[in-house]
Parts: sequence; C-alpha cells; structure tokens
Amino acid sequence: MSWTDIFCHPVWAFSTALLYFVVRLQRRGRWNPSECTVKLTGKTAIVTGANTGIGKFIALDFARRGARVILACRSEARGTAALREIREKSGNSEVYLHLVDLSSMDSIRTFANRILEEEKALHILVNNAGVSGLPKQISKDGLDMTFATNHLGPFLLTNLLLDLLKSSAPSRIVTLSSVNHVKGEVDFSHFHGENLTYRLDKVYNNTKLHNVICTNELARRLKGTDVTANSVHPGVVLTEVMRHYPFLIQFIFNLIGFFFFKSPEEGAVSSIYCAVAEETDGITGKYFDSDCSIVLPSPLARDSALAVKDFEISERVTSKL
Ligand SMILES: NC(=O)c1ccc[n+]([C@@H]2O[C@H](COP(=O)([O-])OP(=O)(O)OC[C@H]3O[C@@H](n4cnc5c(N)ncnc54)[C@H](OP(=O)(O)O)[C@@H]3O)[C@@H](O)[C@H]2O)c1
Repeated sequence: MSWTDIFCHPVWAFSTALLYFVVRLQRRGRWNPSECTVKLTGKTAIVTGANTGIGKFIALDFARRGARVILACRSEARGTAALREIREKSGNSEVYLHLVDLSSMDSIRTFANRILEEEKALHILVNNAGVSGLPKQISKDGLDMTFATNHLGPFLLTNLLLDLLKSSAPSRIVTLSSVNHVKGEVDFSHFHGENLTYRLDKVYNNTKLHNVICTNELARRLKGTDVTANSVHPGVVLTEVMRHYPFLIQFIFNLIGFFFFKSPEEGAVSSIYCAVAEETDGITGKYFDSDCSIVLPSPLARDSALAVKDFEISERVTSKL
C-alpha cells in the first residue's frame, strides 16, 4: 500500500475531518467577547507586546469598547503598523504607541515615568509581551534575557504602575502565563542565567511559572484595594511565538497550528474575559484556562511561602536595576 493510498483512504479522511471539527468546537470556548456589551469609555488600558499576536487582538477589543489604549511595544515600525490598524478597525483615535523594551529595566522605568506623568488613571494593565526559545543571552542588567522579558520586566512594570492602578480602582491586572508553567521549576539563580538548560521551551516554562506565583502573591498584597491580579493561559495559539525555534520546529508548529490551534483572535479571549467581563469583577489571585474557566495552577504555583519568597527576591533584584 502506498502513502497516497493511506492518506486518500476514506477512513483517514473522515477521522481527520472529525478531529478538525471537534478541535474547532472546543476552540470556541464558553465566553464570546462580541456578545459582551461592557464599554470601556473613560477607561485607560495598557497592553504590552500589542503589535502582533494575542496582544494586538486584546488591544483591538479594548479600543472597540472605547478605551484609551496604550500599545507598549519595543519596535517603532511594528508598533506604528499595529497602531494604524487598530485605530482604523476600531474607529477609536484614542490609541497610542509608547515604546518599551521589557528586557531592559531602564527602558521600563522611562516608560513607567512617562505613564505616571501623562496619564491621570490606569484601569487595565495586560502583561502580554513574551518570548520563547531564546538561546543563552544576558541582558545589560545581568539578567537572563527570557527571564527579564517574561518575568522580571513585567514584574517591575506592574510595581511601578501600582499606585496609579490603586488610585484608579476598580482596576485589573492580567498577566499572560501558559499551561506550560506546570513544567517549570523555581531556582532564583535562573534570574541571572545560571543553572539553566537552554533547550526548546525549558527556560520559558520556568518564567511562566514565576508569572503565576508572583501574580498570586500580588493579589494577596492587593486585598482590599479593588485592584485585581490574575494570570491566564491563552491556549495554544498560532502566532509568532515560535520565531526563535529551529526552522523545522517552526514549520511543524505552523503546519499543525494552521488546522488545529487557536487564531490570535481566539487566543485573546481568556485575557479579555479577565480584563473586562462583569463575571470576573472582583475575582483575584486566580489562574484562568483558555476556555475562561478558573482552574488550579500547578502545586508550586499554589505554595504561598514560595510566593512570598519569589516576590521579595524579584523585588530586590529589580529595585537595584
Ligand atoms: N502562542 C501561544 O501558543 C501561547 C501559549 C501560551 C502562552 N502564550 C503567551 O501569550 C503571550 C503573547 O504571545 P504571542 O503568542 O502573541 O507571541 P508573539 O506573537 O511572539 O508576540 C509577542 C509580543 O511580545 C513582544 N515582545 C517580545 N519581547 C519583547 C520585549 N523585550 N519588549 C517588548 N515587547 C516584547 C513582541 O514584540 P516584537 O514583535 O517587537 O518582537 C510581540 O509584540 C506571551 O506572554 C506568551 O508567553 C502564548
């Protein structure tokens, strides 16, 4: 029997089609942003990494709801293209681009100072920007580049904007983690690129675990302030997230993803749910799955003593930079 016989066989074709439709149905999730009538007029939102992928669709949704939206991006060219597209599609001219490189603590401080000087309020902060598959690279602050971008940078940014979020309450912080956090490990020497295995998504998984741990601890510290902090898994989403992986892995990801993964628009849903839905009003310190349900994160992410330690060490490391 040849390969053509196998792949053209009706049983093969039928089961592939069935699998495709089951996956499509499951991708839809339980909450539909277009049926949510919440308006964000008079509200200000920041979305990091809003020039592509999931972040662009989160920002577009906020703009369509009438928010003043700040796209926090590192590339002027890519950010400007997204700014034009979001303004055009939403009809909202209150969308702005501010440059920030989340792997640089200096750049984050400059960005945060500008926000504190120019903005009267901040109601939504979405820590979306992220990177995966980078080889060993140490930032000019002496930090592992993936840790700086995915955990320590967003951690510093959130803390610098915290007073503004508090004075604008009710306000919400949403941090994009990943289901891969369950494979993550905590070792604080990782922050400086020590004892890390740079293979596929190993470093990424560790950073995504810190996202959930520190978001939970932040939520605990914010009790009574009417500022909520939650982390989300967006699903497996066909974006540029694999851009630093070997070509073959990118090719396989894109090929399978074309049929079975979420689109960036679908991947934005769980974050939008956390950031705007009435159903998530007042909910804090939770981890949301890609279908918008609250699920338990990994045991390490639920260890409150570890969370206190992680938060304090992350604070100590970033405050010096
Ligand atoms: N896609 C998935 O399957 C998946 C699954 C689980 C979790 N997530 C999480 O979802 C979030 C969004 O990912 P995505 O899939 O939309 O990825 P993406 O398409 O690669 O977009 C990532 C965004 O982050 C920005 N970014 C990266 N490094 C930055 C830096 N140093 N400073 C500022 N911005 C930076 C990128 O900017 P440039 O375009 O300039 O590089 C881009 O805008 C990430 O946190 C990711 O971990 C994704």
